[in-house]
Amino acid sequence: MSTLEHPETPFLALDPHRVDTNVRRLRRHLDRLGVALRPHVKTAKSLDVAALVDGGAKGPITVSTLAEAEAFAAAGYRDILYAVGIAPQKLGRVRALRDRGVDLVVLLDSVEQASAAGVPALIEIDCDGHRGGVAAGDPVLVDIARALEHRGGEVRGVLTHAGESYFADGDEQLRAAAQHERAVAVRAAQALRAAGFAAPMVSVGSTPTAHFATDLTGVSEVRAGNFVFFDLVMAGIGVCTHADLALSVVVTVIGHRPDKGWIMTDGGWMATSRDRGTGRQRVDQAYGLVCDLDGTPYDDLLMADASQEHGILALRPGSTAKLPDLPVGARVRILPIHACATAAQHDRYHVLDPGSRALTAEWPRVRGW
Ligand SMILES: Cc1ncc(COP(=O)(O)O)c(C=O)c1O
Repeated sequence: MSTLEHPETPFLALDPHRVDTNVRRLRRHLDRLGVALRPHVKTAKSLDVAALVDGGAKGPITVSTLAEAEAFAAAGYRDILYAVGIAPQKLGRVRALRDRGVDLVVLLDSVEQASAAGVPALIEIDCDGHRGGVAAGDPVLVDIARALEHRGGEVRGVLTHAGESYFADGDEQLRAAAQHERAVAVRAAQALRAAGFAAPMVSVGSTPTAHFATDLTGVSEVRAGNFVFFDLVMAGIGVCTHADLALSVVVTVIGHRPDKGWIMTDGGWMATSRDRGTGRQRVDQAYGLVCDLDGTPYDDLLMADASQEHGILALRPGSTAKLPDLPVGARVRILPIHACATAAQHDRYHVLDPGSRALTAEWPRVRGW
């Protein structure tokens, strides 16, 4: 049997027990609020992880690429939301999936896109200035809906994503972001209904707001993706603890620079990604927190810097901890800053037997667009 000592490093280790715990936590919360989950598969991009999320039911999912839509459709998923604004050139692939019986719904926020679409769509609403979308009270919302129906499309409803919740600080701000996300989405759906559109779908969500919502009246579904793995950004804003993180990158020590207090590894940003999402948080975790092979963090040891295929481990600035004795050839695990970005650097997961160093399976990831 393979163990964490065997595969060539760097590689991605996945703890399915933690995924299961993370999934149960969000499902329990959403069940209490009486709202359906439409998991975003962009984080794991894995049929095997999706099966942990929905117990094999192949229920509704959100995707971020048509490659994900095609892979999940081929595996039997039939209710798919493509939650990135539609480029008209991609409509051929959308129609091909719809012709095969997949209810693939697209996202748009302009009259131009609506006029080209000819397929069911959600209209993207901007709730916090994070990215695209139209304001809930903007009359263009109804213009978009009319353009969509005029060209044979169908107004399924509205979608908003509180992306700024990633920068929230503390429970109160997180609860406020969730409350605002809901209120904006419901207001936009009401505007469409007042103009004569059924707009049955009111889709909200991000991992922070999904967890901190206290009332989802009027919302039909919650999209969250990161919640399956969590990461140091999520721990930094208080959505999870380090013990919830399901992913780590296993790397090998390849040298030392005692003069600088560095331990060098074979895992650079190609293995962890260049994401520095904790750089704006109160506690910066640089490129990741370093753990031993059993997953216990070393005192104050960070992956402090990265080049393409080199990682530099060093103590957190100001730390009085002692640099651990890690000889050349020793392996350590790096907890990711941003799980979606770290996982995207790899083509598979090495699946851990929880509580041991044994690896029980390899799960492939969907790649490309
Ligand atoms: C449109 C949309 N919905 C949902 C999500 C899921 O958010 P999270 O990864 O915080 O769970 C994302 C993530 O970027 C998104 O872009």
